[in-house]
Amino acid sequence: MQKQLITAVVLAFATWITPQTAGAQGAGRSGKSVVEAVCASCHATGAKGAPKIGDDKAWASLASRGLTGLTESALKGIRNMPPHGGSPGLTDIEIERAITYMVNQSGGKWSEPISDVTAAAERRGEQIVRTQCAKCHQTGVSGAPRIGDRAAWIPRLKHGLDFVVRSAINGHGPMPPRGGMADLTDSEIRAAVVYMFNPVSTPMKGPSDAPAARPDPNHVVVDGTEIYLGVVAAESLRAQYAKGSKESSMHGGIPGGKGHYHVNISLFDSKTRGVISDAQVEASAADPVMGAVTKKLELVTLNNIKSYGNYFRMPGKDPYTITVKIRRPGTSRPIEARFNFRHD
Ligand code: HEC
Ligand code: HEC
Repeated sequence: MQKQLITAVVLAFATWITPQTAGAQGAGRSGKSVVEAVCASCHATGAKGAPKIGDDKAWASLASRGLTGLTESALKGIRNMPPHGGSPGLTDIEIERAITYMVNQSGGKWSEPISDVTAAAERRGEQIVRTQCAKCHQTGVSGAPRIGDRAAWIPRLKHGLDFVVRSAINGHGPMPPRGGMADLTDSEIRAAVVYMFNPVSTPMKGPSDAPAARPDPNHVVVDGTEIYLGVVAAESLRAQYAKGSKESSMHGGIPGGKGHYHVNISLFDSKTRGVISDAQVEASAADPVMGAVTKKLELVTLNNIKSYGNYFRMPGKDPYTITVKIRRPGTSRPIEARFNFRHD
């Protein structure tokens, strides 16, 4: 095989911080775009006694009341502050984001809230599993991977959470499409899969012979963010997805030749289980000889499910270290996770 030079890109954070363009991700508008369109008309100048954006002192004392308290008064209105800032069409989450944005423009360090609607849907995961998926996945009917049996789930998740989710949506063999519940949404299926892999709080009785809390090499929790890594060979994507399909046209198309892999990252808030889709994600794949290649992972929406991905060339036999950096709006520092990747 010809030796191909992979330039070692030692990326400083400077190239990595491209501010997220406002809006268009997640449910509803971003804080920045709401503030610019609505709240700034008073809060930029301090008109009518509005706390001015950038007045750290005024906002610090407001911020000490917490997001819930401030949101309540912004929704209801207070003195010269009209309810919903005068825009009744804004959702609660958009108001929360707008407040967070103003707090952060004024010396605060809040992270922009993700949609509660998503969080509620994700909480349904457990419920769906109990009522439907458990019929087979509780005891392992026809070879169904059992709930909480990480040893059974880990190899399936190796290709990425979202590939498994899509396989559950489509069904295969004894696994019925959507687990036999046609009205489940895609994100509910994802929530159910996440729950089965990783039952939280009140776990259902798992198989007693399953090893307890076996660590998954492709799943970590860092600072309240759950990070799932998946790696799939480009060849197997090419075999699986028709030309012109959404899957095959991700990131400008499946690269030809050998040694290319699709690297996929799925992110959740570990508390709410809400999907995180407002992050900037970057990954680098490093082998000891060639050094590291760093790329931005693009937001991918397939079947209404959002994750981040890009192609990397990893032709070597030695294990690669995949380092993922994730930055959320409103946070001062990216979080980082490191995985090892070895060819089968
Ligand atoms: C028409 C002018 C105006 C607009 C538009 C406006 N505000 Fe205000 N806002 C005010 C004024 C005036 C106050 C101070 C109220 C007081 O304490 O007397 C205020 C106060 C607040 C407070 C502090 C509330 C408290 O409990 O002390 C928050 C939070 C807030 N605004 C959020 C927003 C958000 C979010 C938007 C945009 C969606 C917005 N505002 C749009 C005028 C405005
Ligand atoms: C009628 C039995 C049955 C029900 C109900 C069922 N499953 Fe399955 N499921 C299976 C079987 C059997 C497999 C293993 C199939 C295989 O490996 O080919 C499986 C596999 C899976 C996989 C792994 C797919 C992969 O590519 O590795 C996922 C994810 C999954 N099920 C999700 C669900 C969810 C979510 C529900 C509930 C909404 C559900 N299943 C309900 C029988 C069932």
